[in-house]
Amino acid sequence: MRFGIIGTGRISEWVLKGAFYDPRFTAVAVCSRTEEKAKLFANQFGIPLTFTSVEELAACPNVDAVYIGTPNSTHAQMAITCMEHGKHVLVEKPFAANAREAREMAECARRNGVVLMEAMISTLSNNFREVLNRLPSLGEIRGWSSTFCQYSKKFELLRDGVLATSFNPVFAGGATMDIGIYTIYPMVVLFGMPTSVDAHLLTLPVPETGEPIDYQGTVMFEYPGMSASVHYSKAIDSFLPTEIRGTEANIILDRIHICRKLKFAPYHEPTSGRLPLPKPQKITKPLEPDPYLSEFTEFMDVVYSGRSESDINSLDNSVAVMEILDEIRRQGGLTIER
Ligand SMILES: NC(=O)c1ccc[n+]([C@@H]2O[C@H](COP(=O)([O-])OP(=O)(O)OC[C@H]3O[C@@H](n4cnc5c(N)ncnc54)[C@H](OP(=O)(O)O)[C@@H]3O)[C@@H](O)[C@H]2O)c1
Repeated sequence: MRFGIIGTGRISEWVLKGAFYDPRFTAVAVCSRTEEKAKLFANQFGIPLTFTSVEELAACPNVDAVYIGTPNSTHAQMAITCMEHGKHVLVEKPFAANAREAREMAECARRNGVVLMEAMISTLSNNFREVLNRLPSLGEIRGWSSTFCQYSKKFELLRDGVLATSFNPVFAGGATMDIGIYTIYPMVVLFGMPTSVDAHLLTLPVPETGEPIDYQGTVMFEYPGMSASVHYSKAIDSFLPTEIRGTEANIILDRIHICRKLKFAPYHEPTSGRLPLPKPQKITKPLEPDPYLSEFTEFMDVVYSGRSESDINSLDNSVAVMEILDEIRRQGGLTIER
């Protein structure tokens, strides 16, 4: 599949290294805001064509599909331009800046008969597929808890009055969009839409405008017979795993972003807290040679099999996640629409 890459930042570099493991993948074009960066990136990865206009890339007959690795608020317009020209689109997480944009993107994909998929790696790995396989054996699910805290230099910059794109409200930045999504997208894939959302965000005013932006969040969700909680931060680290708790067994993922160790803990007799709990079984699946490979493999599998979308990173899931992220950010006092 002949890909055009939009954006020459570090994420485009990372994903390309993963994509090359799939022999069906070829990068034929790169689009940057400057010719200089496009050429530099093209030389680095042996890419023949360069563009400085998304419209021209989208119109290029030698391109079958486009990967978008640019700031959140640019995703929708770029994806729609490419899809209107009949290109399949793999777009970075978060899918869009808000749910309204997400719905417009999904509608555009369906109308043009092209594949549109969110590049959310966490749900496409071998380990997460094993979680999906094992879910029915957990009995009734009572709980989901997930944590993703990653101390970021950009948080220090924000505190010092320097605004990085990933914290900029104009680009739909902030911790919820940047890393909170990793704790929520898998929850939606597994359990669907919650019946309630109760969000507590920590924010700082951004330089110049003083508009609040979130750097940490704790969110509680309700489902019928089940409660869920997630915690994420760009201001601290955490080593807590993610856990799914059922009446028959629990599953434990060492990390939700990229899960490398998976455990299964079947139900046991109550220990009343005095005896040690039985050791969970290791059920880790073979890891992909690169974590970014799985999103390209899934995307190309969908296109080549003639399916309209991924069963896991589906359009409905991406839209539902954006609706939840909107609600969390609204409760945190952030601006959703610009
Ligand atoms: N999957 C993951 O693990 C992962 C990790 C990090 C980020 N991400 C996602 O990837 C996306 C980009 O994140 P990032 O941290 O790499 O962002 P970034 O460094 O700010 O931007 C990435 C690239 O987008 C282009 N760009 C920057 N500002 C732009 C604008 N105003 N309009 C159009 N293009 C612009 C630039 O390329 P040119 O200079 O060539 O135009 C830039 O190098 C975000 O949606 C983020 O959530 C995903």
